[in-house]
Amino acid sequence: MSQDLLYERLADRMRRQIQRGVLRAGERLPSLRRLGRDQRISLATAVEAYQQLEREGLIEARPRSGYYVRSAPMQAPRSPRARHLSRAPMPVRNPALLGVLDVQSRRDLVPLHAATPAAALLPSAALAASITRVMRRDPGTALGYTVPQGLPELRERIAQRYGQCGVEIDPDEIVITAGAMEAISLTLRTVTRPGDIVILETPTYHGLLQAVAAQGLRVLEVPNRPGLGIDAAQVGELLERHAVRAALLVPNFNNPLGSLTSDADKRALVAACAAHGTVVIEDDLYGELAYSGERPSPLRRYDDGEHVVTCGSYSKMLAPGLRVGWMIGGRRTTELLRTKSFSTVATATLPQMALIEHFARHDVERGLRRLRRALADNAQAYRQALLDHWPDGTCVAEPAGGMTLWIELPDDIDGQALFEAALERGIGTLPGHLFSNRGDYSHHMRLSCGQPWDRKIETALRTVGELAKGLQG
Ligand SMILES: Cc1ncc(COP(=O)(O)O)c(C=O)c1O
Repeated sequence: MSQDLLYERLADRMRRQIQRGVLRAGERLPSLRRLGRDQRISLATAVEAYQQLEREGLIEARPRSGYYVRSAPMQAPRSPRARHLSRAPMPVRNPALLGVLDVQSRRDLVPLHAATPAAALLPSAALAASITRVMRRDPGTALGYTVPQGLPELRERIAQRYGQCGVEIDPDEIVITAGAMEAISLTLRTVTRPGDIVILETPTYHGLLQAVAAQGLRVLEVPNRPGLGIDAAQVGELLERHAVRAALLVPNFNNPLGSLTSDADKRALVAACAAHGTVVIEDDLYGELAYSGERPSPLRRYDDGEHVVTCGSYSKMLAPGLRVGWMIGGRRTTELLRTKSFSTVATATLPQMALIEHFARHDVERGLRRLRRALADNAQAYRQALLDHWPDGTCVAEPAGGMTLWIELPDDIDGQALFEAALERGIGTLPGHLFSNRGDYSHHMRLSCGQPWDRKIETALRTVGELAKGLQG
């Protein structure tokens, strides 16, 4: 039999097995070598069969892990409609934002609301050992004030990491902060004045809306398209019509969509902002958490430090509680450093020293690979559960990285009502209207998929699905 026929027959058989559920979503497929051996075919034929199924969207390759059956193709959420491209800048007017604190303060919920990886996915024991070592070795330094800019060894480490993805950063343009959120707030405070106009995505992380509200800014919203990210042409349109001081954007795995903005859009976006004298504040918190392929470029790749300030942190890859983040200021570094030191003097010393110790002793890249794989698996398993247990017509965006799932419910289900019903059952979720300036997305929800798939999560997802069905009609 010709090689062509062989691979087609194999692909046919596997396609039918996937369609009939014999091979289940998320299941790992035999390695190419094993497939070749079992089926008595050449490696090239096995590769061709898998490539065919990949093209059809039935299976996916995960780097250094193997081939997996994809979740049943679900409908992507309808793209936000054109009305979401703002006509006029508006102050943040979403009263629901004030309620987020109540949910964040609860420790008794199944945490589908918190965009954080489960402790089991993070190197908690190794970090604890690093903290102990630092305290034994040099308690005086660890418990004292440190320099406002942050420890040089840590800044060098951050610069090196960007260097590995082709972006040259000088450690002297980095300022260490208490997480990305402080970096973003300080940058807004440095580059804007109350009443200025800023561009945000819609939907976007509610914390960014809160930071913008705290600074008394007015917002223009640009749609983030499910699966596609930010459209530079639409940003350009807003820049033409309004005097925009800053654009606060999450191009790599936006929270809540998990979408990735293309390199072409990133480049065009930076160029458009540069041409209009608009400062780009890049929130690159999820850049290291791609489910497949390379770490995507930060916007700073397309700038020389003149127009872009990049903010990031170790919250999602190592430990949110250490509260260590950074801003990369380019030509604004001195101003940013001044704002930082006038605000909190310096970031806590002990977590910075513990991280330096951790990096000297551990292979962080290995831990990251494990985390990315786990998050990709979680996202797939959660999506499948939504497909199985939530009302017909529920749409879920397919994230390319990060740890959030954006859900569009059928029109007769109110996101806030579902959020409240779930809360009564001890399950944390977030209603969609927290993710826009004007409280749009009243039929949406955001879930975190940071918790490993287990019985508790499965039960929680099934329960919320049943509650959603109960709210219909
Ligand atoms: C997009 C985005 N930016 C910033 C933050 C806050 O990060 P950090 O813990 O580093 O302050 C979050 C947290 O969920 C987020 O999703």
